[in-house]
Amino acid sequence: MKLIIDDANVEAIKALYEYFPVDGVTTNPSILAKSGRNPYDVLSEIREIIGADAELHVQVISKKAEGMVAEAAKIREKLGTNTYIKIPTTREGLKAMKTLKAEGVNVTATAIYTAQQAFLAGKAGADYAAPYVNRIDNLGADGVATAKKIHDIYRKNNLHTEVLAASFKNTQQVLELAEYGVGAATVAADIIEGLLKNACVDSAIDAFTADFENLVGKGKTMENC
Ligand code: G3P
Repeated sequence: MKLIIDDANVEAIKALYEYFPVDGVTTNPSILAKSGRNPYDVLSEIREIIGADAELHVQVISKKAEGMVAEAAKIREKLGTNTYIKIPTTREGLKAMKTLKAEGVNVTATAIYTAQQAFLAGKAGADYAAPYVNRIDNLGADGVATAKKIHDIYRKNNLHTEVLAASFKNTQQVLELAEYGVGAATVAADIIEGLLKNACVDSAIDAFTADFENLVGKGKTMENC
């Protein structure tokens, strides 16, 4: 399962890229709005940090297919032709997905709340489909189960679309989908950090250090003992 950063905070992305095994960045209009800056300024900086070949997903705003297709052209011109164009999975969105896929554009079907929607996105040729795990939970349904069901529908119908699960509240939701082997999860920076945060690990390492320093002296390591 690819692990993607769902964030447009340039400093957070830099830090995660330095330390964590991550595979790209997704954004949406609300995430970009948090930066308070011009969207293309922020996205260009992100592209610079992650490199020309890494996955960058950028969402369109238009409600009509023609507008979505025009936005896709501008996004690709500014951020590279390998950029994934996030298209909301609506009636107009499906039309745009079919047009863009016929032109060989990378497409991520987004705003997915049901497996029915995801099935249609798969049939329209989307490369990724993004079910909103936590938002589905908040509707009284099961977000993780929906993402798994979508993964199964794609595999059983020989559709090449991969699940790009989004909207996570906790690390357990992420892990359950990794265990199931869905294609990708896009996760906010603090939840990616949360995959590692564990006081037991810190105290185990502190105990190892204390024992070693009792043996050979304070500040010593295997390099200079
Ligand atoms: O981009 C869609 C998804 O990441 C939204 O997440 O946390 O706003 O539900 P959230």
